[in-house]
Amino acid sequence: MLLYKTDKMPLFSGKCLSTAKLIGKTALVTGCNTGIGKETVMDFYKRGAKVIMACRSLDKAEAAKTEIEKKCKDLPETGNIVVEKCDLSSLTSVREFAKKVLDTEPQINILVNNAGVMMCPKGETEDGFETQFGTNHLAHFLLTLLLLPRIRNSTPARIVTVSSAAHTRYGINFDDLNYKKRSYNAGEAYSQSKIANVLFSRELANKLKEHGIEGINTYSLHPGVIKTELGRHLDDSLFWGARRTLGILLGPFMKSPESGAQTTIYCAVDEKCANETGLYYSDCVVKRPAPNGANDEYAKKLWEMSVEMVKLGDFNPFTANDPGVKTLGQ
Ligand SMILES: NC(=O)c1ccc[n+]([C@@H]2O[C@H](COP(=O)([O-])OP(=O)(O)OC[C@H]3O[C@@H](n4cnc5c(N)ncnc54)[C@H](OP(=O)(O)O)[C@@H]3O)[C@@H](O)[C@H]2O)c1
Repeated sequence: MLLYKTDKMPLFSGKCLSTAKLIGKTALVTGCNTGIGKETVMDFYKRGAKVIMACRSLDKAEAAKTEIEKKCKDLPETGNIVVEKCDLSSLTSVREFAKKVLDTEPQINILVNNAGVMMCPKGETEDGFETQFGTNHLAHFLLTLLLLPRIRNSTPARIVTVSSAAHTRYGINFDDLNYKKRSYNAGEAYSQSKIANVLFSRELANKLKEHGIEGINTYSLHPGVIKTELGRHLDDSLFWGARRTLGILLGPFMKSPESGAQTTIYCAVDEKCANETGLYYSDCVVKRPAPNGANDEYAKKLWEMSVEMVKLGDFNPFTANDPGVKTLGQ
């Protein structure tokens, strides 16, 4: 059976066909020194955007930036790329990064919450949250809300959160989101963090509507099963050789990073979904999420718990004034 039309793009894989330009727009992508995030940055750059790469390793991010610029050097109307430090396993780092962005960037038209860790051994973020829940969900939750006053002034804007079909596999345990009382299961914790991504995107759309805020759309998505570095923890959490074994078994069915970035790009730029919000996508079409990801009660509850966990305090991202950029020298 022919699965590939080239070794890069499976036949059944969705593709963003929009030729929309992003000249004069600013896009921010988290965790994008490799994998589908890097492809997303390159696409936005080709469309003419200013792209902010929010990465935990400045060295890796600078190398990715150089690679992208080299690949695109003969293309017309490319944008520019800015590298910034943001470690999502530290809410202090998230706050510092958000402040820098608010101090310097007059607008944020596209935010892509892309970074992720999968099936890592049991661990905690700097703030004491389970690593996957803290990194994949809470850090993106905080980052989005801190930037929201600027995004509200940058409409039309889109907030894209990369989830996974893995959100369908397990549930969300509100009594023990951080595995303090139950035994740790790496796959279950990844799944829970990815349900949280879907619920966050859904509830953000609901709250924007409730506050009468127009022009900001939210999207969550499954990018496909892709050949990236995401499986780097599989040998530690499953068995030695798991990453290689799964790579051999699933390899022919896996997407390239370029193909894996298509649904993110579709949600971020395509005219076809410009009037949609709060929905979940796969292969560039709307998909119904698992019941856990479509439960508005869960979405509200997770929101309230997340507000407490990231210590948002009195800050209301839907009504707070945009602090404005700082002029040079301030
Ligand atoms: N690959 C798949 O098959 C697949 C399937 C479903 C969903 N997804 C989702 O797609 C997204 C991108 O994954 P990918 O496949 O491109 O994986 P990847 O190649 O491993 O890339 C993940 C990116 O996230 C960054 N990251 C991890 N922890 C971070 C932290 N604490 N702070 C800042 N950045 C951090 C990584 O930076 P470092 O290089 O510094 O670690 C890397 O740039 C993830 O949200 C993942 O859950 C992927």
